[in-house]
Amino acid sequence: MSAQDTPSKLAGRLLAWYADMGVDAAIQSLPVDWLSRADKPPGCDFSMPGSEPAAPAPQRERPARPMVPPPAARAPRQFTGRPAAAAEAGVPTDAIAKAHTLADLKGLLDRFEGCGLKATAKNLCFYRGAERAPLMIVGEAPGRDEDIAGKPFVGRAGMLLDKMLAAIGLDESSVHITNIVYWRPPGNRTPTPQEALACRPFLERQAQFVAPKVVLALGGAAAKQLFDVPDGIMRVRGKWREIELGGTKIRAMATLHPAYLLRTPAAKGNAWRDLLAVKAALKADQ
Ligand code: URA
Repeated sequence: MSAQDTPSKLAGRLLAWYADMGVDAAIQSLPVDWLSRADKPPGCDFSMPGSEPAAPAPQRERPARPMVPPPAARAPRQFTGRPAAAAEAGVPTDAIAKAHTLADLKGLLDRFEGCGLKATAKNLCFYRGAERAPLMIVGEAPGRDEDIAGKPFVGRAGMLLDKMLAAIGLDESSVHITNIVYWRPPGNRTPTPQEALACRPFLERQAQFVAPKVVLALGGAAAKQLFDVPDGIMRVRGKWREIELGGTKIRAMATLHPAYLLRTPAAKGNAWRDLLAVKAALKADQ
């Protein structure tokens, strides 16, 4: 700050600093005084199913040995926990099971407080496209444009997705597009496994209504969550597998996320190969 700074210059520099810190959208017109809400941060009522409350961190104690076990001893990453565990986390599993339509499910999501992302998001982003569709596309998480519009994949990545779908003869009348979480993570970070897990029972029921022949996961985060695998997208993409979603076995594939393709156009060939495989699978099933 310099003595010559006018209030408007200062405000401009403050806004620039916010933008550098990743604050790229105003969530509400008035600031929220989180400190006046006692000691409860957003989403604090949600806990990982079966997990113990975290012990307070030891003060300035350094572990005598490295915390990371050698690779051979490291347990495989788990992306587990379906309906039984979800009930413990405050997910309304009975109401979800009783939902008759996607509109019922949306009503439950509107009232659901078990996913911390809701506290900072502007809107619920449930789905766009057909209610029942042969292809169900599942991305990572809503971004800024989606948060504002309240619909998945409506920004630049969504526009590319629409072009990719048009190239294999599909549009909103034949696809159902959603994400592994229904609210925008702050700063567009990757949703945590816990956040995805909290949304998962809704996604399972959603899949029952959509009744897709094929599920296409977009990007590594969606593939990890849907396929229960620890591998990165480059290893996972382009391979058929059978997943259980909504109690039904469904053919599924992962491909590169359109946001990645926008940054890395040279990878479009791989995504094109995957889409042609999806097109062939949809045709074969007809
Ligand atoms: N990226 C996603 O994964 N989902 C969206 O809805 C938008 C961008």
